[in-house]
Amino acid sequence: MEISAATRARLDGVKDGLDRNNLVDFAIVQQELEIPEPRPQAVPHLWRWDAVKPWLAQAYEGVSLEEVHRRTLAFRNPGLGGRPFAATSLFMSISMYFPGDEAGVHRHMASASRFLLEGAGGFTTVGGEKCVLERGDLVITPNGQWHDHGNDGDEPIVWVNVLDIPMTEFFNAVMTEWDYYETDAASNSGEPIKKKMQTISAPRDYSRLLFGSGGIVPRFGPERRGEGAHSPMFLYKWEDTATTLRALRGEAGSPFDGILVEYTDPLTGASVVPTLSFNAQLLRPGEETRTHRHTASAIYCVLEGEGYTEVDGKRLDWAENDLFVVPGWSWHRHVNTRPGKDAVLYTVTDRPAQEKLGYYREQAKLAGGEIAEVAPWPNFDPERRASAGL
Ligand SMILES: [Fe+2]
Ligand SMILES: [Fe+2]
Repeated sequence: MEISAATRARLDGVKDGLDRNNLVDFAIVQQELEIPEPRPQAVPHLWRWDAVKPWLAQAYEGVSLEEVHRRTLAFRNPGLGGRPFAATSLFMSISMYFPGDEAGVHRHMASASRFLLEGAGGFTTVGGEKCVLERGDLVITPNGQWHDHGNDGDEPIVWVNVLDIPMTEFFNAVMTEWDYYETDAASNSGEPIKKKMQTISAPRDYSRLLFGSGGIVPRFGPERRGEGAHSPMFLYKWEDTATTLRALRGEAGSPFDGILVEYTDPLTGASVVPTLSFNAQLLRPGEETRTHRHTASAIYCVLEGEGYTEVDGKRLDWAENDLFVVPGWSWHRHVNTRPGKDAVLYTVTDRPAQEKLGYYREQAKLAGGEIAEVAPWPNFDPERRASAGL
């Protein structure tokens, strides 16, 4: 209904009074808040490795950890007004550790992950368990778990960090603790002493030893590692992921993602942390996926191969180690352009958080531009989805 002149005058007349009392007529903000579909602020963006890597060296070569706390560059999505986030809900950065580095133990509310790109011998100790990384290995430090990092190898290492910091910030739940104490076993005094690094209290890669054989879990000893709603396995070795991707490469796969596998909690099948989904996907030579969009935002890191991802009409050409972001609700598809060679992508999304909150929605674009619902929603029609071959 059209607002009458009398009502308009009435609302104009109260505007100053409302402002003074920190109130606003809903009609003024309705355009932002009641929109038919998401309008992501983040934009599709790709960071080329050969542009990123030299800056990491230029910023930190010869700089000690004691001086700068971390040798880390955070990725800023150009659509987010300078905020240090790769997507609205996802923080991403790269870190470099030199041989002998030790980054002190701490814990925080945000769930964190490392995915090693260069070098070998980088480690993260989680809950007393030292996890040592090679290229493509993933280590998670779920929220609230004590962790420290370092490099036992003889060359610098570089890894990609992905955290859910924007979500913890949104909910006013950011907390970090730097004071870590262990009971002084040596002096027998029982006094807690402050430590820079955790004492190793479990065998190397212990949680992988316990839970790393798919479908087989121990029925003795520790039933889990760490506390809280997360995977009891902290380390996911690339060799296991690569073996699975290779074994499944003859399958039809996902129409939108090719051979897509997710890292899961081996006890429940759930995502490894409550907020984030970690995945690897293989695109076979010449493979072109179909176009879809979802409310979840996604970060990608190219582990192998070359190709491009088309996001809302923008073509992101990628090669090894490049990193890119597909904002939520952007139409996208992936293409492997390298003849005779697989492309392998490491992907992190905020889908688990959205699913828990009931926000997750996904659509496919059919030939001719028609749209089909993929994730359940009031318009969801499984028959229409099936007839579209989805
Ligand atoms: Fe941390
Ligand atoms: Fe997708």
